[in-house]
Amino acid sequence: MTYPFSPEWKLIHFFGAMSRVTTMKVIRLMTSLLLGSAVLIASANPEGEARYRQGVMTSVGGHMTAISMIMRQGIHRDSLKFHADALAALAKKSQSIYPEGSNVGRSEALPAIWEKPDAFRKATQRFIDASEAFAEAADSGDQGAVGQALRGLGGSCKGCHDDFRAKS
Ligand code: HEC
Repeated sequence: MTYPFSPEWKLIHFFGAMSRVTTMKVIRLMTSLLLGSAVLIASANPEGEARYRQGVMTSVGGHMTAISMIMRQGIHRDSLKFHADALAALAKKSQSIYPEGSNVGRSEALPAIWEKPDAFRKATQRFIDASEAFAEAADSGDQGAVGQALRGLGGSCKGCHDDFRAKS
């Protein structure tokens, strides 16, 4: 590039370009920090995190057992919505219970969770969506819709376990 004007203009152009580069760097750094905080912050207490996660997942399993008993045995029907809402709340937690380094102790969490964060996030999102759809169906009281939504929900458990949980 030629500088048709004074040497001062050249200097101004130089600093202008410099600060643009710096701004880009800062933006890129902030973006990576923000994205990083979505899933992968290393934990200061990996054992505690693993056990906390297992407690959350055990609760998920408990609500699913309760739901399947309601559906199959026809008991406690008026509690279906309660269990559906609890599951939907727990599903939202599933994006924050996998800090990096927390596959320790007797954890069945596979390394793929941290190696393929995008695929894993899709699996947690599918769980969130399916549990919300189930809670809506439970609200409607339409048995056909409830059955179909339950199959979708079960599929979201299996989809994640197949890829991200060790077979025991
Ligand atoms: C996004 C992934 C994902 C989804 C969705 C998911 N799970 Fe899990 N689940 C896991 C992982 C990973 C573990 C192993 C956790 C560990 O051992 O640290 C686990 C563990 C469990 C456990 C054992 C908990 C324990 O005490 O160790 C149960 C029960 C369970 N899941 C039930 C379910 C049910 C029921 C659903 C669906 C309603 C479901 N999960 C959906 C990933 C998922």
